[in-house]
Amino acid sequence: MINRIQELMQQVETLQACTLEEVEGLRIKFLSKKGIITELFNEFRSVPKEEKAQIGQALNCLRQAAESKINGMREALAESGAAAKSADVADLTRTPDPIGLGTRHPLSLVREQIIDIFSRVGFTVAEGPEVEDDNHVYSLLNFAPEHPARDMQDTFFIEKEIGVQKPSDILLRSHTSSVQTRVMLSQQPPIRVLCPGRVYRNEAISARAHCFFHQVEGLYIDKNVSFADLREVLLYFAKEMFGPETQIRLRPSYFPFTEPSAEMDISCDLCGGKGCSFCKGTGWVEILGCGMVDPNVLESCGIDSKVYTGYAFGLGVERITNLKYRVKDLRLFSENDVRFLQQFEGC
Ligand code: DAH
Repeated sequence: MINRIQELMQQVETLQACTLEEVEGLRIKFLSKKGIITELFNEFRSVPKEEKAQIGQALNCLRQAAESKINGMREALAESGAAAKSADVADLTRTPDPIGLGTRHPLSLVREQIIDIFSRVGFTVAEGPEVEDDNHVYSLLNFAPEHPARDMQDTFFIEKEIGVQKPSDILLRSHTSSVQTRVMLSQQPPIRVLCPGRVYRNEAISARAHCFFHQVEGLYIDKNVSFADLREVLLYFAKEMFGPETQIRLRPSYFPFTEPSAEMDISCDLCGGKGCSFCKGTGWVEILGCGMVDPNVLESCGIDSKVYTGYAFGLGVERITNLKYRVKDLRLFSENDVRFLQQFEGC
């Protein structure tokens, strides 16, 4: 028996546990009612008298050793558990919670798509100021002095002196065609530019109109540029933007700065051109204005209209975005409601 006690003593000294459950398992194994050490105490009763003193002492030592070893392990684990808990509060090594990614504004997405499509056929981007003068926005573009677009109802004029109501030629540009003028005044053909930007009109805000919106203007001037070139580039744009099945049609129109002028419709992609409520039963939806640059405009900007011809077009970014994503209310574009913006995640 003394040998078993010594063996067990060695075992007890080397005991190890990683969790409180393991410690409890060891207690049960050695010290519970049916534990190894308790069993030895039962056997102790039948030990011959002359050995009782030696074996009894050894047994007591074994029990004490087992108790202090197991209690020691329990305390150590309880302490490290508490330490781990308090460390939870400020664990600087923890991976941070993911930060929600922002989304790109639908108008930015569509503007980039438009620029990308035209840049593949040689257009570069030019920009100009939003606060403009009458000359760049109207006069150089062949608007007669009494043209209705100059009317106070359309254009936001800026008073030169605050509070003094004098006729002003400083205004917020009402179309990006003003950037055409700036480009033509500053460089000679060949010119092939896109002018994206924000424009302002004095309109009551509603689902269908806003006092500011966005346009992309296109201008191409070179020798022998024809209306057929204009039609080709617009057909290419329509198919790239709305899909290869898209068809276009050009209707005669009037703009002071182009002659001839036209408005372009694309086949309604909701009904495939059959006619629906979206296209008001016509099978077509209007998307832009265009035309051949009026020789008067070329001449006023210092370009020889006998040598050069050109085309121009202007489209509304909101209009194209509505057609692509069916946004019914223009106001959503400027309200910055994340529930609306989040719908363009991943676009
Ligand atoms: N500037 C025109 C508008 O705001 C749009 C436009 C029409 C631009 C025809 C053009 C064009 O360059 O050729 O309504």
